[in-house]
Amino acid sequence: MARLLAQARFIIGAIAVALILAIAAPAGAQQPSQVNPTAASVKEQQLLNALGAGGSVSGRVSIPDQKSANLIHPAGRDWRQFHEVTLRWIGAISILGMLIILVAFYLIRGQVKLHGGFSGRRIVRFNAFERLIHWMTATCFIILAISGLNITFGKPLLMPIIGEAAFAGWSQWAKYAHNYLSFPFAIGVFVIFLMWIAGNIPNKVDIQWLKEGGGIIGDKDPPSYRFNGGQKMIYWVVVIGGTAVAITGYLLMFPFYATDIQGMQLAQTVHAIIAVLFVAAMLAHIYIGSIGMEGAFEAMGEGTVDVNWAKKHHSLWLEQEMARVGPNESERQPMATPAE
Ligand code: HEM
Repeated sequence: MARLLAQARFIIGAIAVALILAIAAPAGAQQPSQVNPTAASVKEQQLLNALGAGGSVSGRVSIPDQKSANLIHPAGRDWRQFHEVTLRWIGAISILGMLIILVAFYLIRGQVKLHGGFSGRRIVRFNAFERLIHWMTATCFIILAISGLNITFGKPLLMPIIGEAAFAGWSQWAKYAHNYLSFPFAIGVFVIFLMWIAGNIPNKVDIQWLKEGGGIIGDKDPPSYRFNGGQKMIYWVVVIGGTAVAITGYLLMFPFYATDIQGMQLAQTVHAIIAVLFVAAMLAHIYIGSIGMEGAFEAMGEGTVDVNWAKKHHSLWLEQEMARVGPNESERQPMATPAE
């Protein structure tokens, strides 16, 4: 039965192709053109333009999916050029460019140190729920980024190394991961939007923070509330970028439900460009949240920071916390007691 169905599908497909060719060829013939298709100087585009409105070659098919009647569509070729050439350039320049900047920055500036040293007194910075949401979103993002970059760069970069069969197997799993992890990622972005919006509305303090290089470029310690100017930028990149990749991603995941072929091409273009810029921006965030700044990782790792760290990087927030709960209440013991 399955074999019969497969054969029937094959025959219907073959008839559809035959129909398209049969109808398209006379359609071209009915429109006498000035272009000689065999002349060496004829450009493909000229030929397509001569074939009819918009340069498409369409016919009629007897199967329900009328899109399959479109045999040649110049917009598809523009999209292919974007996907296989332009996008690879945008991705390579933004991601490799960011990596080069970060490595150079680390070699020149080095880690942002806590010169006064640690006080040994700690204050809660992110509670367990905040950390759970952060790490859920971050884990999904990293897998989405790797599996997404595989779609753009896998064929030219990875396939020659691991071979076609291994690449096909890996790409299939990567695609499953990309589809399914989009859901917890989108939920994570939404919860991040709600839980940190109050601390991320730009204000005058941020302008001063930016003017003074955020204490990262230069050696000043500009004051800041819970989130500084740089963190607010990351927050909005996550909220706006995350929303944009989610919407365009779902348009791609459920093809032709909400839009036509032009809409699908636009969704793919927007999705891919925002995604590669998003990855570049998050590389800067990952750098500063780990090796770039002494004492920063603990904030998301165990949820507390040293009071001296808070004084240096978020002095206004520290004052607020002390006033809100009192110095003793807001402080926590370090997870591990330092060796004597
Ligand atoms: C290995 C990867 C990552 C590391 C090491 C990391 C580290 C951190 C740290 C230490 C903080 C707290 C900073 C502070 O206390 O002031 C933080 C905050 C934050 N993270 Fe991450 N993160 C990573 C990945 C991500 C990803 C992939 C996203 C989103 C897609 C993300 C979104 C955020 C946001 C919105 C904040 C609050 C604003 C900010 O501090 O910039 N993080 N992260």
